[in-house]
Amino acid sequence: MDNSKLIQKIQQLKRKRNAVILVHNYQIGEVQDIADYLGDSLELSRDASKTDADVIVFCGVRFMAETASILCPDKLVLMPDINAGCPMADMITRNELKVLKKEHPKATVVGYVNTSAEVKAEIDICCTSGNAVKVIESLKDTAEIIFVPDKYLGHYVSTKTNQNLILWDGYCPVHAKILPENIMRRRKAHPEAKVVVHPECTPQVIQLADEALSTSGMCKYAKLSSASEIIVGTEPGMLYRLRKENPEKKFYPLSEQAICQDMKLTTQEKTLLCLEDMKYEVKVPKDIQIRAKRAVDRMLEVL
Ligand code: 13P
Ligand code: SF4
Repeated sequence: MDNSKLIQKIQQLKRKRNAVILVHNYQIGEVQDIADYLGDSLELSRDASKTDADVIVFCGVRFMAETASILCPDKLVLMPDINAGCPMADMITRNELKVLKKEHPKATVVGYVNTSAEVKAEIDICCTSGNAVKVIESLKDTAEIIFVPDKYLGHYVSTKTNQNLILWDGYCPVHAKILPENIMRRRKAHPEAKVVVHPECTPQVIQLADEALSTSGMCKYAKLSSASEIIVGTEPGMLYRLRKENPEKKFYPLSEQAICQDMKLTTQEKTLLCLEDMKYEVKVPKDIQIRAKRAVDRMLEVL
């Protein structure tokens, strides 16, 4: 089937099913092009919570679709490829978090949205890279805070807020591939360019960058900044949107190696099949959903 026919069929089926397509900024270009909503984890959680569609097709990774199911338990949440996971989210289990909570019984638990629904059920408040600083600031009178699972995001947030955090030894294996040497080399090649990186990068990389921003934070920065060249330290799927929205500017990936294979699993063909066959469903069990929703709702209350 040629591309325009495929898109036409997706649009027809979307209307028939009363579905919306939510797409994360790292998805491949052809999937970004069929998005009703394109954004970072925070924006997509908000979009999911507000939609009046019956079906949410989530083009991203599993924890994102689970978050949509947590927020909208009565809607059908589908993923075009059910194998799209997040290796960082898998770095902490519910039982591991329970042990950590026992060691720090008075601590408030902040959990990155990149966690399973089961882990979310054990945390007090969620955060994303887009609001982690604000979430920690909202807890300023709290004596002890556990932050899971991303030690690098946790480190970044603690430097921004002057708050000590009890960290878990998790990290994003994709962003860990971005090295300080990459910044040095790219700055040499493009001396006028600004460097923006994701806060999942290591502290050494963040220290050398001009800004650390969530993926949609990067989109806003690219629009508003006077810089005409920007070096982008995150998953290179990001460059498709940046280039499309800012055709007059130049964007360079900081590293070609930092590819999230899970984010690349979704395609237009799989999205069409997803709408045709109404699969694969992501459904969070009720007891987990109720507990996890408290933590996600609490995050959404923080501006
Ligand atoms: P954002 O919320 O910034 O889009 O990040 C999600 C993610 O998984 C980054 O690796
Ligand atoms: Fe998870 Fe990293 Fe992929 Fe984001 S880029 S989905 S944190 S593995």
